[in-house]
Amino acid sequence: MATATWQRTDAGYTGVEADAAWAEEVRRLAEERDAVLLAHNYQLPEIQDVAHHTGDSLALSRIAANSDASTIVFCGVHFMAETAKILGPEKTVLIPDERAGCSLADSITAEQLREWKAEHPGAVVVSYVNTTAEVKAETDICCTSSNAVDVVRSIPEDREVLFCPDQFLGAHVKRETGRENLHIWAGECHVHAGINGPELAERAAASPEADLFIHPECGCATSALYLAGEGTVEPERVKILSTGDMLTAARDTGARSVLVATEVGMLHQLRKAAPEIDFRAVNDRASCRYMKMITPAALLRCLREGADEVHVPTDVADRARASVERMIAIGKPGGGE
Ligand code: 13P
Ligand code: SF4
Repeated sequence: MATATWQRTDAGYTGVEADAAWAEEVRRLAEERDAVLLAHNYQLPEIQDVAHHTGDSLALSRIAANSDASTIVFCGVHFMAETAKILGPEKTVLIPDERAGCSLADSITAEQLREWKAEHPGAVVVSYVNTTAEVKAETDICCTSSNAVDVVRSIPEDREVLFCPDQFLGAHVKRETGRENLHIWAGECHVHAGINGPELAERAAASPEADLFIHPECGCATSALYLAGEGTVEPERVKILSTGDMLTAARDTGARSVLVATEVGMLHQLRKAAPEIDFRAVNDRASCRYMKMITPAALLRCLREGADEVHVPTDVADRARASVERMIAIGKPGGGE
C-alpha cells in the first residue's frame, strides 16, 4: 500500500484497491492529520465503511460543526464540503475530488436567486443545502430533506416563501404544510428525477407487501401518493423520507421487503441496519456519478497530499453562515452515526 499509485481519469481517480491494507492506511493517515472522515449515505460501500461517521446531509453538517478535529475530510459532493467550511472557517476542509459537483446545486445561480427575490420583495428564502455557497449567502434559512417541512413551518404563515432549487422537495413541502404562498424553483437532481412514476408503479404492483421508501427529491414521490390514494399500495406503506430517516424507518418497520427510491448507495447502509429485510432499488441505474468520484484512490490521494482543499471566500461564508446555522438548529436530531 505504501507504494500505491493512482491515475486521474474523467470519472475519478483509479488504481487503488479497497482492501484491508488500504483501510488501515486511510485510518492511519487520518489520525496523522487529525482528520475526521465523514461519508454521505450515497458513497461507495468501502468509503462508507472506512469513514468515522456516515449520515445524511443534515447529520453530517451537525457532526462537522461539532467536531474537535482540525481537518474534515468530506466524502460527499462539493456543496457538502463547502457547508462544513462555512460552519468551521478555521478548519481545513478536504474533499477527495473537487470535481464531485451536483446537478441540483447547478440548477440555480446566485444571480438567478437575486432576480427572483427582486420579484418577491419581503419573501423569506429557503434554500436546500444542495446549493453553492454563493446561493446560501442570498438565503434566509437553508434546509435539508430531513427538516425542510419544519423549516417552512417555522416561518410566519403570512410571509411569502421562495423555495429553491428542488421542485420535487418543494412540492412535498407544499403538500405537507398546505401553504399557498410557497413559490417553488423548477430545479431537479438528474438522478432522483430519473426515478419515475411508471417504474415505481410496476415495481409496487409486483411486490404488494413491500414498504416504499421514497426520497422527496424523486420524480415519483407524487405517483407514490397517488398509488396509495387509489389503493394499489396501503397508504401506511408509503414513506417519504430523507436518507437518514430511511435508516430509522428500516429499523422500525415490520415489513420483510422494501422498495427504495433514491440513489443506490443508500442500499448499503439499509442492508447493514436491517439485514433481515429485502431492500431493492426502484431504479438500479440511479447512481450519482459525482458521489462515485470519491473512490478509494481519491481518498488515499487526499490524505497523502492534503488535497483537494475547499475554500469559501470569507465575505461569502460570512453572509451564508446564518442560513446554515438556522438549518442545523431546526429539526430532530439523528440521521447519522
Ligand atoms: P439527504 O442525505 O439529506 O437525504 O440528501 C440527499 C441528497 O441528494 C444529497 O445529495
Ligand atoms: Fe446532487 Fe443528485 Fe448527486 Fe445528490 S444525487 S449529489 S442531488 S446530483
